[in-house]
Amino acid sequence: EELAAAFIEEQVQAIQEQVGDKKVLLALSGGVDSSVVAALLIKAIGKQLVCVHVNHGLLRKGEPEQVVQVFRDEMDANLVYVDAIDRFLDKLEGVEEPEQKRKIIGAEFIRVFEEEARKLEGIEFLAQGTIYPDILESDGVKAHHNVGGLPEDLQFELVEPLKLLYKDEVRVVGKALGLPDGMVYRQPFPGPGLGVRCLGAITRDRLEAVRESDAILREEFAKNGLEGKVWQYFTIIPDFKSVGVKEGKRSFEWPVIIRAVNTKDAMTATVEDVPFALLQHITDRITHEVPGVNRVCYDLTPKPTGTIEWE
Ligand code: XMP
Repeated sequence: EELAAAFIEEQVQAIQEQVGDKKVLLALSGGVDSSVVAALLIKAIGKQLVCVHVNHGLLRKGEPEQVVQVFRDEMDANLVYVDAIDRFLDKLEGVEEPEQKRKIIGAEFIRVFEEEARKLEGIEFLAQGTIYPDILESDGVKAHHNVGGLPEDLQFELVEPLKLLYKDEVRVVGKALGLPDGMVYRQPFPGPGLGVRCLGAITRDRLEAVRESDAILREEFAKNGLEGKVWQYFTIIPDFKSVGVKEGKRSFEWPVIIRAVNTKDAMTATVEDVPFALLQHITDRITHEVPGVNRVCYDLTPKPTGTIEWE
């Protein structure tokens, strides 16, 4: 913690020196890295930081609301909230292929962010939540969900205060800056979000079902001491239905798949041995509380042969 305090002091000064009285733009997803960068910049330059939160409709339940609450309401930040849900879902309509979905989400994200950047006057800097592993991996192993690819006339000088830190250190700094545990210790979440967990062509009803079932799973894992113990846990909804019975009548609805895995580096993963009674309870809740769902399955596949995500 002392080291965190020293790091924060040092970075606050460095940021103030670099930026002066100019404005800085930040794409604030609500993930650990961008949230910690935001908190650090708010401490250093207050309202000279303009945070843009793009809600692409593929975030987990409660996430956009938490970003607004923490940064606008509690930290009094300059926050532009962009409701781009319809734009993204319209672009994704009918698109089945996973990599195509990722490309569309990434490209649309840059487009929306660029439009917002153009509306703002006098921005000279762009802050990014780059951390040390990003620099190590930037040889194309994984497509990064950061704001690369902005057009020539929108080139800013970069502010990257976390670029020498590892994830654990970023969390300690975030905690010291007063960010809530739910934000600092949250599980990894892919850039394309629920878009790659609503399998095949995304539809609004299935997207809601995956969001609601994910919220139930997270609530139950938290209640039963599994939050922070399991690396990643989420639900997936396939694009086919199965026959079931609900209230004595035939139903023809979607299944939900639960995935809970542990890993060190995401290259291999093992399945969490979730207590059977808890899985039964979660199944009961999902099939009764989530409209359109009549069946729940648990994915027993390690990586390899499965990947962590289904798309
Ligand atoms: P897989 O499914 O490849 O996932 O075993 C390994 C880790 O990477 C995350 N993941 C992504 N993260 N953009 C991201 O930012 C993506 O397109 C993406 N795809 C997978 C996944 O959640 C897991 O933590």
